[in-house]
Amino acid sequence: MNVPLLDLAAQHRAIGDVVLARVAAVVESQQFILGPPVADLEVEIAALSHAASGIGVASGTDALLLPLKALDLQPGDEVITSPFTFFASAGTIHNAGARPVFVDIEPDTFNLDIAQVEAAVTPRTRAVMPVHLFGQLVAMERLLPVAERHGLAVIEDACQSIGARRLIDGTWRVAGELGTATGFSFFPTKNLGGWGDGGMVVTSDPRIAERVRRLRTHGGAKTYYHDEVGTNSRLDAIQAAVLLAKLPFLASWSAARRAHAAWYTAALAGVHAVRTPTTDPANEHIFHQYVISADRRDDLRAHLTAAGVGTAVYYPRPLHRQRCFDYLGYQEGALPVAEAAARRVLALPIYPELGEAQRAYVVSGIRSFFGA
Ligand SMILES: Cc1ncc(COP(=O)(O)O)c(C=O)c1O
Repeated sequence: MNVPLLDLAAQHRAIGDVVLARVAAVVESQQFILGPPVADLEVEIAALSHAASGIGVASGTDALLLPLKALDLQPGDEVITSPFTFFASAGTIHNAGARPVFVDIEPDTFNLDIAQVEAAVTPRTRAVMPVHLFGQLVAMERLLPVAERHGLAVIEDACQSIGARRLIDGTWRVAGELGTATGFSFFPTKNLGGWGDGGMVVTSDPRIAERVRRLRTHGGAKTYYHDEVGTNSRLDAIQAAVLLAKLPFLASWSAARRAHAAWYTAALAGVHAVRTPTTDPANEHIFHQYVISADRRDDLRAHLTAAGVGTAVYYPRPLHRQRCFDYLGYQEGALPVAEAAARRVLALPIYPELGEAQRAYVVSGIRSFFGA
């Protein structure tokens, strides 16, 4: 049997007709840049995120970069984030002209350890970027008071967590409604993925919304008149049409991922060399990834590969140890929880269409490796 890490072709077989019909309408219109599908998607994603505005941009990376640029960060300004995330979280802080400051993560959820955030605040700290990793939210009710006490903007990296929720004071709060601004990615492998790159900023701050809207079109609210230097970062109409067609399925897809995750966790019970993912009890996880921690991770991975099971390591090297950030001066051992996670994590196949026989095959591969 072959079980890929992700099977986008299965999704396409199920709903390709619906998506193609919407794409065909864009082709008929011959209006490929911004336009009605982008405006419609902006409204839908803002509503999903309980935010006032959505601004479609070219990628999840730009959905973080443009709100950071809207903060007018100055050289030497600091932005606190996680070292255990996709590179863009910190790369955008650097590219916005500020200095990334990394604090360690919680060992169970892999999300930012909030207790360490406040200790890292200095007079130069301007913002914090919580990353809602693998599909579950950071403990925002603990982070927001820290940000408020120190006057920090909160730029949420929700690239992996669209539609994820957290119960705060008896109310479900979603990714995108709690920070100053939030970035989503529509990279094809995401829970809501396009047919190419795409992203969206959501915010309820009208000033940030206006700035981001301007920055995505070379800094001009009016064509050929430029108030500031921006860039070309527009969501194109074909991507928006694909995403609008897929959006009605998102909640059921995420529920299916959650069900598969629960199945894996039950099936792996008793395999002592494996720690299954921890969901913070306040969170409704969307399982963008199902990430175990395992002894002899690399050997396990090779064993599963040989058996035809796709896996991935998110992430093999924490960001504070990336060569490009040598200038920040972090040594090995500086953020031990993230470093240990990088040695032990392994993402297993998870996608809505994943069948029980396939899941059982993955688990039997893990059990046979450990003789469990
Ligand atoms: C946590 C995180 N941040 C940022 C990004 C950047 O998104 P994109 O690849 O759409 O630029 C991604 C996705 O790749 C991500 O997973």
